[in-house]
Amino acid sequence: MAHLRSDRPLPFDELDAVLRQAGLTHRPVGVVDLDAFEDNIAAMRRRTGGLPIRVATKSLRVRSLISTAEAAEGYSGLLCFTLDEALWLHSRGHQDIVVAYPTADTAAIQRLAQHDSARAAITLMVDSRPHLDLIETAIGAASSSTAPIRVAIDMDVAYQPLKGLHIGALRSPLRTPEDMLGLAREISRRPALRLVGIMAYEGQIAGVGNLGPRRAVVRLMQRASSQEILHRRGAAVRAVAGEFDLEFVNGGGTGSIETTSQDPVITEIGAGSGLLASALFDEYSAFTPRPALFFGFAVVRRPAPKVATITGGGIIASGVPGPDRLPRVVHPAGLRFSRQEGAGEVQSPVVGEAAEHLRVGDTVWLRCAKAGEPAERFSQYALVRGTEVVDVVPTYRGEHQLFL
Ligand SMILES: Cc1ncc(COP(=O)(O)O)c(C=O)c1O
Repeated sequence: MAHLRSDRPLPFDELDAVLRQAGLTHRPVGVVDLDAFEDNIAAMRRRTGGLPIRVATKSLRVRSLISTAEAAEGYSGLLCFTLDEALWLHSRGHQDIVVAYPTADTAAIQRLAQHDSARAAITLMVDSRPHLDLIETAIGAASSSTAPIRVAIDMDVAYQPLKGLHIGALRSPLRTPEDMLGLAREISRRPALRLVGIMAYEGQIAGVGNLGPRRAVVRLMQRASSQEILHRRGAAVRAVAGEFDLEFVNGGGTGSIETTSQDPVITEIGAGSGLLASALFDEYSAFTPRPALFFGFAVVRRPAPKVATITGGGIIASGVPGPDRLPRVVHPAGLRFSRQEGAGEVQSPVVGEAAEHLRVGDTVWLRCAKAGEPAERFSQYALVRGTEVVDVVPTYRGEHQLFL
């Protein structure tokens, strides 16, 4: 029977039995709601005003989901997090890969240099002469062809309204058109390298939730920052593009698609978190993605009234430590982690009225703060539509890949 697309949340009351019938008895279990994932693919595309989205792989870490997104209308290419990962994905058929962060992995650079097809497919990120030196030294002996290594320059678009105040990611030291042009010219003096693009990621807009009255200051900062970026990034891109042919200018992330895509110098958006819509992305005023990734954990004890303890649960997201980095309990509704223990290493007590009805062996469903990191803890995800398990696919970990 053909599946009728659903815009309703997964039926958690039935999900446990559905998974068990499909042979998925082990807990914890990771589940992707395919209807929600596909809705998010379409919703992100609608937000770009026609610019392509380069899929940020760190926020998926599951090859089948990455391939589905990349193949969707409005999506093109991958934004990877390490060169090792990029080489692996290229060996599995992906052809347009930008590594979003600089690498000091000389062995991986040598492997890149030794494969002509990888050299043509993969772009490295640089922001300074030491990066250029390191790449040149690494490829010195390894080069099997004369095709140059593709590089892109990372520009800092953090907001600095006052001297000494830096709001945004601490990444590239290059902030001005002169800085950018200086490195572009340096690249052009090195025949082993070829400049193909610019990336300028506005993390203070793309990655900082701005929903609700208490975040009015965040919204003000983001508005001022996007105006400032429009001028500075625009001037830098025009300066570099005046002398060099650029294939792409990448900007943004899930949280900034609207503002980034209005910048006329941007040719593509890099984004991934909005596809599985992890909990940190509930907090944006401009869009509401559908939660698409859930984790089921087994209840193993009932230590007290209104308390149930699950095995595992401590999937804490990276970033500045705080309650927003903890998973959220989605089902049964109304449960929270205990204040004394939080989400634990081996066990996590969850507290609330609904715990009264939980028995040993029942499943409690969580969402995690970030979308990609949990895949490092699960070897596979079940892909589900409504009450049907459509497929079971390996995560990077399930494919024995470990990149950082
Ligand atoms: C360079 C770059 N682009 C884009 C993103 C946005 O990714 P996502 O949409 O998955 O949050 C990030 C996230 O950190 C990033 O570092």
